[in-house]
Amino acid sequence: MNKLSELHKVRTGYKPKLPSVFNHGPAVRIVKGEKGDSAGDQEKIKALFPKTYGLPAIGFEASEKQVYQPLNVGVILSGGQAPGGHNVIAGIFDGLKACHKDSKLFGFLGGPSGLIENSYKELTGEIIEQYRNTGGFDMIASGRTKLESVEQFEAALKNCKTLDIEALVVIGGDDSNTNAAVLGEYFAQKNEDITVIGVPKTIDGDLKNDMVEASFGFDTATKVYSELIGNIARDANSAQKYWHVIRLMGRSASHITLECAMKTQPNHTIISEEVAAKEQTLQEIVDDIVDVVVARSKKGNNFGVIVIPEGLIEFIPEMGILIRELNDLMAKYEKELNAINHVDEKRKYIASKLEGHSSELYLSLPKRIADQLTMERDPHGNVQVSLIETDKLLVYMVKERLAKLKNEGKYEGNFKTHTHFFGYEGRCSFPSNFDADYTYSLGYTAALLAKNKCTGYMSSVRNLKDDAKNWIPGGVPITRMMNIERRHGKDKPVIKKAMVELEGTPFKTFMKYRKKWAAGTHYIYPGPIQYFGPEEVCDAKTITLKLEHE
Ligand code: FBP
Repeated sequence: MNKLSELHKVRTGYKPKLPSVFNHGPAVRIVKGEKGDSAGDQEKIKALFPKTYGLPAIGFEASEKQVYQPLNVGVILSGGQAPGGHNVIAGIFDGLKACHKDSKLFGFLGGPSGLIENSYKELTGEIIEQYRNTGGFDMIASGRTKLESVEQFEAALKNCKTLDIEALVVIGGDDSNTNAAVLGEYFAQKNEDITVIGVPKTIDGDLKNDMVEASFGFDTATKVYSELIGNIARDANSAQKYWHVIRLMGRSASHITLECAMKTQPNHTIISEEVAAKEQTLQEIVDDIVDVVVARSKKGNNFGVIVIPEGLIEFIPEMGILIRELNDLMAKYEKELNAINHVDEKRKYIASKLEGHSSELYLSLPKRIADQLTMERDPHGNVQVSLIETDKLLVYMVKERLAKLKNEGKYEGNFKTHTHFFGYEGRCSFPSNFDADYTYSLGYTAALLAKNKCTGYMSSVRNLKDDAKNWIPGGVPITRMMNIERRHGKDKPVIKKAMVELEGTPFKTFMKYRKKWAAGTHYIYPGPIQYFGPEEVCDAKTITLKLEHE
């Protein structure tokens, strides 16, 4: 038997495209751009990052051949998997080796904890070759340990010194890049010569701003989900007997849902940011769905596709309040709750501690959902929304409402449903050409930022709507993306999360078609990601990217 799939064998040979400024490898010099302030709370961020605040943006320009010394670099994969992570590492490796063949790359294993516990492996050419253009983070594995205490920073320092590491690259989302900036500042304040660089990763697409156009993985993940949604839509339209309710990953922001909706044109799509802006209640959200179901059934269409973002529940104001109250309550009564073994008893205990509307709401939820709301939080204190079955909750409530309407003679249709959750399916796919090229370019850029001791910077590649040769690589000071937010009762510097802009072109474009897609059947079937074939198919970019930069 073959150990590798045929695609795997061929795909490792793909040569990712690089911006043309790297045509002669690392024969480039850095160009300093404008200095800038943080996204918010300038005085506070400045005080917290005296060494790395107010740095200029960095660009590159072609130069005569440069003479580089060998450099040892450490790399960490942090947080959820995103297609292209291996190519970031391959890009760093190739960039370092192009600078000097004796440079070394060490991968810390299992995420940030590998750095603290000195668990690592040297990434040789032989290892890198096996992982080029493949999905997953399994080359060195990932983890969600939060790097935040002085003890952790000191352990990191000690372990870097032991390996003669002069630069660390943290590949992660907003929280991990924030921690990278804090670590970089810590080293700088101690006059330790270790550069820390971040790379924007997350399928969620919420790590973007004026300087970072997209996080890697979003392109591939949305293509995978859209293929699946398209297949389901075609099945729905073929059998014409089921409603499919599909919940999509993406944590808080609804970028993934919006992109997939534009790619597949389902009958009803919920965007969390809109729900929050309209201050919709759970019942109002249910009523919107019921309206679409009833209207379609009147035309004999007892089938359809509904797409919802996984983070929806936190954006429904009354649910958000309930979740916050549950967070406090779970912290306050941790001991008492741990002592209760039976779930029904636990639920009763929690209900007795809630007050007013929250108590009513909690008791009105199906037991399964109520229990999911009180599951363990992740290390960053986030509710694990991927584990809350909002799709099932909505189906339950829509069914209740439709039964009432049927009794009143206002609905005669059928609402037979299937629920789906697409999340993990998209995180480790072979990266699309876009993500393979983008991540390799981000990695190559990170190597050159490391060479130039650009500490506290995030690797950035801009002008992504254009051909890869015209992409603009550089570095953006991480502090420039920060503001202060309240986390666990404390003011913390964090990278500002990008939510779906209701005034932005992607959402406005979706709004233009929403009613048409609800009333009729206008599904689009995107099919699987193509790695070989016509450019317009293989190198297609997300609709979001195109609309945001048209
Ligand atoms: P990152 O923010 O670390 O990139 O992770 C994104 C994500 O895939 C979310 O979309 C999802 O809610 C979460 O990770 C799931 O976390 P876990 O992998 O721990 O189950």
